[in-house]
Amino acid sequence: MRLLFIPLIACLAFPASALRAEEGLEGLERLIAAWLDSPHGDYQSLSFTYWNEQGEVPENCAMCHSETGFMDFLGVGGLTAGGVDHPGTINTVIGCASCHTAEAHALDAVTFPSGIEVAELGSSATCMVCHQGRQSSDQVAERVAGKALDQVSDELAFLNIHYAASAATMLGSVARPGYQYEGRSYAGQFMHVPGADTCVACHEPHSTQVEPDGCLACHRGVEEMRDIRTQHQDFAGTGDRSGGIHAEIMALHGQLLDAIRLYAVEVAGTPIAYFSGFPYFFNDPTGTGDLPSELATRDNRYQSWTPRLLKAAYNYQVVAKDPGGYVHNPRYMLQLLHDSLADLAETVEIDISRIIRP
Ligand code: HEC
Ligand code: HEC
Ligand code: HEC
Ligand code: HEC
Ligand code: HEC
Repeated sequence: MRLLFIPLIACLAFPASALRAEEGLEGLERLIAAWLDSPHGDYQSLSFTYWNEQGEVPENCAMCHSETGFMDFLGVGGLTAGGVDHPGTINTVIGCASCHTAEAHALDAVTFPSGIEVAELGSSATCMVCHQGRQSSDQVAERVAGKALDQVSDELAFLNIHYAASAATMLGSVARPGYQYEGRSYAGQFMHVPGADTCVACHEPHSTQVEPDGCLACHRGVEEMRDIRTQHQDFAGTGDRSGGIHAEIMALHGQLLDAIRLYAVEVAGTPIAYFSGFPYFFNDPTGTGDLPSELATRDNRYQSWTPRLLKAAYNYQVVAKDPGGYVHNPRYMLQLLHDSLADLAETVEIDISRIIRP
């Protein structure tokens, strides 16, 4: 019996395992192709070429903008974990080795710019390191401390949250990425639903894409993710509640820019415009808010900041730079916009009677 049985098993087992290996290989090829197409694998991106003339990525940028810097931060190869000790190598994207060393797999806790450490992050921990932003409520509060709210100060300059700080958004008041006004309470982590509550539950980690079909199976009646809505109040006070929660956030965001511009003229005494390029807020000699790109220069950066204006502009940018904010933490985004508008309304005439705070 035995003698007959073993070759039979071997015969059956061989083609099956060969098939599995081939499937595995195809899976791996698909995965690599998806990664190569993703922003993480984009060798041309400014995120990985910005320092090419310098020849190296400085320590304070390397953690997120170079594979060697990220490995340095994780302590791969005997380096000290938790900080970057050497400049990063230019033209290194976020490759396989960024997320698949023993150190990356073991990473479970991340410290945010507010100093808060958040633990039990599992396979989303690596995402949280680079998508945490570079400023928080605390840095804004520190910068304006001791200054009169509506007094222009030449010691003030714009603070930029940095980009794609989605992890901080998702954690809300736990990480405090937005400027949180005193006396208000803010939404914490957006828990959403089990199965769609972590970075990698929604984003395939190699393509970084979100597959909308799974979302729309729950969120019936809409065809686009941006049309999803479960909170039905008229947060922006426009009378139009037909759009998704994304539209509600965008409407308030637009109102905030108008309010910032009005305040700049009436209180700070110098017109301001937002332009999509560093450092984002510029003097606006046209007074239209529509800045010609030749005026978006370093010399023309806005310099008539008051504490109140800086807080509102900071929050405007927090919302602008996480286009997924409506999914990552809609209530937190709405609260930041609402409170920034309410604060500006204490000194300039804007109608906030119809906006609603969630
Ligand atoms: C905590 C992580 C982190 C650190 C530290 C960091 N960045 Fe970034 N940075 C990012 C992420 C994430 C993006 C990608 C945003 C996107 O394109 O989605 C980015 C994008 C950029 C871009 C491209 C912006 C654009 O509009 O495409 C530049 C330039 C940049 N960072 C400069 C810097 C500099 C300079 C430093 C150091 C002083 C730095 N970064 C430090 C995370 C970081
Ligand atoms: C930004 C981080 C990141 C990068 C870059 C990355 N991976 Fe992954 N990878 C992950 C995570 C996270 C998982 C686990 C997914 C989960 O827990 O659902 C994973 C899972 C895998 C798996 C298991 C199969 C699967 O699909 O879950 C393989 C194989 C793999 N990665 C190979 C690679 C290769 C090869 C590269 C380079 C082309 C790469 N990874 C780049 C984060 C990354
Ligand atoms: C070592 C730093 C690093 C890690 C780890 C990392 N990212 Fe990124 N991520 C970046 C940078 C830098 C960019 C911008 C790349 C570019 O400009 O091409 C980016 C881009 C993205 C984008 C696209 C943003 C856009 O502008 O379209 C998504 C989505 C994303 N990452 C999700 C994730 C997820 C999910 C994880 C964890 C599995 C993760 N990232 C891990 C640094 C990182
Ligand atoms: C509930 C699902 C969900 C979760 C959880 C989630 N995301 Fe997203 N994320 C999305 C969707 C959907 C978008 C695209 C939004 C759009 O463009 O309309 C997005 C957009 C992004 C972007 C791109 C922003 C840009 O510049 O275009 C980044 C980066 C990102 N997410 C990172 C993360 C990270 C890191 C985490 C974990 C902290 C995370 N996301 C958690 C669904 C999710
Ligand atoms: C299992 C069902 C389910 C799945 C799957 C699901 N969601 Fe949700 N979603 C919910 C529920 C329930 C809420 C309300 C949660 C709350 O307000 O606390 C919600 C809330 C939201 C909101 C906020 C809406 C508002 O008005 O504030 C957005 C945006 C959203 N989901 C997007 C997504 C996206 C994108 C995906 C896919 C990546 C997804 N959802 C997958 C059930 C689901």
